[in-house]
Amino acid sequence: MELPCGLLLLLFLTVSSSSAAATLAVSTAPVPAPAPRPAQDAEGLLINGNFEAAPRKLNKTLIVGRHSLPGWTLRGHVEYVSGGPQPGGMFFAVPRGVHALRLGSRASASQNVSVRPGSLYALTFAATRTCAQDEALRVAVSPSLSPPADVAVRTLYSGADADTWAWGFRASSAIAQVTFANPGVQEDVACGPLIDAVAIKELPTPYPTKDNLIKNPGFEIGPQVLKNSSVGVLLPPKQKDTTSPLPGWIIESLKAVRFIDAGHFSVPAGQFAVELVAGRESAIAQVIRTVPNRAYNLSFVVGDARNGCHGSMLVEAFAGNVTQKVPFQSAGKGGVRPASFRFLATGDRTRLTFYSSYYHTKASDGVSLCGPVLDQVKVVPLKA
Ligand SMILES: *[C@@H]1O[C@H](CO)[C@@H](O)[C@H](O)[C@H]1NC(C)=O
Ligand SMILES: *[C@@H]1O[C@H](CO)[C@@H](O)[C@H](O)[C@H]1NC(C)=O
Ligand SMILES: *[C@@H]1O[C@H](CO)[C@@H](O)[C@H](O)[C@H]1NC(C)=O
Ligand SMILES: *[C@@H]1O[C@H](CO)[C@@H](O)[C@H](O)[C@H]1NC(C)=O
Ligand SMILES: *[C@@H]1O[C@H](CO)[C@@H](O)[C@H](O)[C@H]1NC(C)=O
Repeated sequence: MELPCGLLLLLFLTVSSSSAAATLAVSTAPVPAPAPRPAQDAEGLLINGNFEAAPRKLNKTLIVGRHSLPGWTLRGHVEYVSGGPQPGGMFFAVPRGVHALRLGSRASASQNVSVRPGSLYALTFAATRTCAQDEALRVAVSPSLSPPADVAVRTLYSGADADTWAWGFRASSAIAQVTFANPGVQEDVACGPLIDAVAIKELPTPYPTKDNLIKNPGFEIGPQVLKNSSVGVLLPPKQKDTTSPLPGWIIESLKAVRFIDAGHFSVPAGQFAVELVAGRESAIAQVIRTVPNRAYNLSFVVGDARNGCHGSMLVEAFAGNVTQKVPFQSAGKGGVRPASFRFLATGDRTRLTFYSSYYHTKASDGVSLCGPVLDQVKVVPLKA
């Protein structure tokens, strides 16, 4: 049911560009009960989410008119760019198709999306900086229960490829206005992040089970991974468990963790796992309910993503009264090793935290951040 309805709506919205056509379509094809349905394709791309439908009016690369770009409402200096080498020596990596948007000083692009109030969503989007300085991309959803967030757009994570990011929000009404903005003001008004491939996915709320107190223990519930994207999805820091794009998990600290898929990486179990790509600067945590002074067994697996990340790795895990260091020697071939330890809960809630002790970069370029993989996290109470 999801797919045909979404496709129909997408077709309807893209085909009927004039209001006359829209009226005709409405009167000849009555729409069934107005259940809120996201207007995306099977992959969750927003309308013109890959920016392949061209603006109606351009002045060189500058888009003229707030409503000129199909599907989007624009503000400020927004350019319509093609990927590849650019005048001035920059290279824009456009991950999806050949076009992307470049948001100049204080510029923004927004789209209204149908959502289910109360539900959790993850937006996936590709972003690259286009000038020499650090750039930020502000993601905001209005109305929603999540404050806007700034993603620092650098090229540390995926080398020459554009990074793909995900951001989570909880909807608070049936229409959510999704806005991507450049909060900065640069000397060159055109300078600012490039965005492409914007998708949305509704995420179920995970619960602990009687066999495992961890929610979303194998990271199987997470943001949309675009089919052709081989760089994984970066989850920015400072994500609370209630609005995280990785439901149940908190992303702490200063840098991102990477959500990886079995189609492009070695994943210990299931379809997804996380790669701890930024050493001690990025940790992943979860708070579980415990009985004070009771003993629990925490188990998990560490491994490597088979992405050219070699060397001696060390994952540190913290739970209750215990810190455990799990060494892992990566040959970059997708190895896996299990680990487990017993801890004593000190209160009725216990925080479990994982991070990588060391920093790693890919052997191929020496700059792209990578690290150990974490999967299959499990906590069970031990008999007294
Ligand atoms: C195109 O942009 C240039 C530079 O901003 C401006 O001088 C020119 O008038 C614009 N042309 C049109 C047709 O709007
Ligand atoms: C999007 O929704 C906001 C209110 O949430 C409204 O002000 C705006 O006009 C809508 N934009 C479009 C293009 O429908
Ligand atoms: C994915 O990649 C294949 C092969 O490069 C290409 O034919 C296809 O059009 C791409 N799909 C999308 C949705 O970009
Ligand atoms: C903890 O769980 C792991 C994985 O299920 C298991 O191998 C290990 O024996 C358990 N340890 C204890 C003390 O029960
Ligand atoms: C944690 O508590 C357990 C009791 O289950 C105890 O055996 C262990 O020594 C404690 N570890 C630390 C580091 O205090």
